[in-house]
Amino acid sequence: MRQKIVAGNWKMNNDKEETKTLIEGLKKEIENLPLDNTRVIVAPSFVNLESAVNQSEDSNIEVVAQNMHQTKNGAYTGEVSADMLKSIGIKSVIIGHSERRSIFNENDEILAEKVDAALANGLEVIFCFGEKLEERKTDNHLLEVGSQLKNSILHIAAEDWKNVVLAYEPVWAIGTGETASPEQAQEMHAFIRNVVAKNFTQEIADNVSILYGGSVKPTNAEEIFSKPDVDGGLIGGASLKATDFSAIIKAI
Ligand code: PGA
Repeated sequence: MRQKIVAGNWKMNNDKEETKTLIEGLKKEIENLPLDNTRVIVAPSFVNLESAVNQSEDSNIEVVAQNMHQTKNGAYTGEVSADMLKSIGIKSVIIGHSERRSIFNENDEILAEKVDAALANGLEVIFCFGEKLEERKTDNHLLEVGSQLKNSILHIAAEDWKNVVLAYEPVWAIGTGETASPEQAQEMHAFIRNVVAKNFTQEIADNVSILYGGSVKPTNAEEIFSKPDVDGGLIGGASLKATDFSAIIKAI
């Protein structure tokens, strides 16, 4: 049975103390929740990862990285490798977030390399993708998402799917306050699952968790999560407050 996941992408927010306070707050909020088959994930910035891992050790919070470099090591100033992440206890990494694509010019090819490097190193990949507003308006959203999947992740081996989580994040909904309607999310998630089924097997497709991301809030989470192919969310802004994030976790 596929897992439900609520993941908080903290982006470039929270210094050391703020990270500590947020994790402490979140721990308190969720310590008594029955989280059967539900994973709670947070992605702090690189500098706060190790302390966050240590702080979360005795809790039901998993700490993941927001990015990594595709190369093993070497002259890549400012970058972080899979080995480095593993050495501090990180087990999963977000790859392909729309901000990495648009601000840091990570294209499909680079993202395919990152996916391969992460999986080869035994890291779980939380792979993000989604269409831009123009593609949605011109009814090309399914085509665009299909192409992003094909170019960066559909080449992986069947056995690697157990280490993949998909996160559909329409670019027009990220940080804009505008959310895909539950129907739009369901249409896309069913399409994505079908793409995986067609390229691999129905069993693999049925077992992969597909998260929705883009302006998920306590007020809209329950409706979005109620859709059969929506297995949880990747939350930006609303994951920065323990009360809001835990309200979203309670909605799953
Ligand atoms: P948002 O961000 O919830 O602030 O829209 C989502 C994301 O970027 O993952």
